[in-house]
Amino acid sequence: MISLRRSGLLAVTLPSLLLLAACGSDQSADQTTTTTASAPADSASTKSVAMPTSASFGKTTDGTEVQLFTLTNANGVKASITNYGGTLTSLLVPDKDGKMGDVILGFDNVSGYQSPEFVKAGPYFGALIGRYGNRIKGGKFTLEGKAYTLAKNNGPNSLHGGLKGFDKVVWQAEPGSSADGQSLKLTYVSKDGEEGYPGTLTVAVVYTLTADNALKIDYTATTDKATVVNLTNHAYFNLNHGAGKDVLNHEVTLPADRYTVVDATLIPTGELKPVKGTPFDFTTPHAIGERIGQVPGGYDHNWVLNTATGEHAAATVYDPATGRTLEVTTDQPGIQFYTGNFLDGTLKGKGGTVYGKHAGFCLETQHFPDSPNQPKFPSTELKPGETYHSVSTYKFGVRK
Ligand code: GLA
Repeated sequence: MISLRRSGLLAVTLPSLLLLAACGSDQSADQTTTTTASAPADSASTKSVAMPTSASFGKTTDGTEVQLFTLTNANGVKASITNYGGTLTSLLVPDKDGKMGDVILGFDNVSGYQSPEFVKAGPYFGALIGRYGNRIKGGKFTLEGKAYTLAKNNGPNSLHGGLKGFDKVVWQAEPGSSADGQSLKLTYVSKDGEEGYPGTLTVAVVYTLTADNALKIDYTATTDKATVVNLTNHAYFNLNHGAGKDVLNHEVTLPADRYTVVDATLIPTGELKPVKGTPFDFTTPHAIGERIGQVPGGYDHNWVLNTATGEHAAATVYDPATGRTLEVTTDQPGIQFYTGNFLDGTLKGKGGTVYGKHAGFCLETQHFPDSPNQPKFPSTELKPGETYHSVSTYKFGVRK
């Protein structure tokens, strides 16, 4: 079973526990000022490390106040995440001249993420996705002989966890800081039967901004009944976001010799097709726009990464206009490369930026779509006593 490791939980929670012990009760989710904390006792560094800052991100439609946490590193890179949907709302990284710029599509406050237009369009900007990232055919699967019916929210299928997935819930937040960098731990308990899924699922996601300009996302989950889990993040990147242009000039590399062929509703047929000689071949760098016209609707497919387990390369992106680069690594067997095909200019984001077709691209590290109905795909099953553990890293750089 790929990526379901029993040992993962300890590795993730121990630093957080040590941090909590070191910081006492100062780590409330609603702190509004910058505070400092001692590094955990087991870290190599003994000097004080600044904590992430937090500020109000507004009130949800049901009146819950949510926060925006900003993680900063010594290079001035800043990642902002709200506990509404665990959403990455902005990421400031340098370009080739050292100029900082935001590379994430999103909104200035929680109302943007809850507006009827946004919810109807369903682009999931920056959100944590679960319990099952991507599609499940007909919203149905059978596990240990029992049939389950899920909420359908994408034509005949269930997409990204259903009607109210992990992107639309308020997570418990715990800012932290260690020798690895500033972090934000988000936890959520998904009830047995939520959106049709069996088992109470306890999820923890830790975002860490590292000294080398990487945003690391560490996911763990445990269950009290057999269930299926496929967690990811739905950030839309545009390495030249400020320019208000599309991403068709960005050059992408995907170390994947095959992709999962899909039907008209984007459900895999089961075939893993070689990319060679097709517009899906990104084994060498290609501009997104170079062959997108040959792919009806645009790219919205799962690539089968050549390496399936252990930390491995998942994608590289280069924007010639700014010199910015993005390198994605993961321990997952697949990656959904989606080119914002459904964006149509009706959504206005941060600073009034209009999000038209191909305004951003997503690199959703994942198990393959519809795995619960595809016995030959790597399993997404999680049983009581096991710990789901997965890590993906988005690292930024520049090419001069
Ligand atoms: C994923 C899906 C797409 C689309 C987006 C959100 O990438 O594969 O089809 O639903 O999420 O718009």
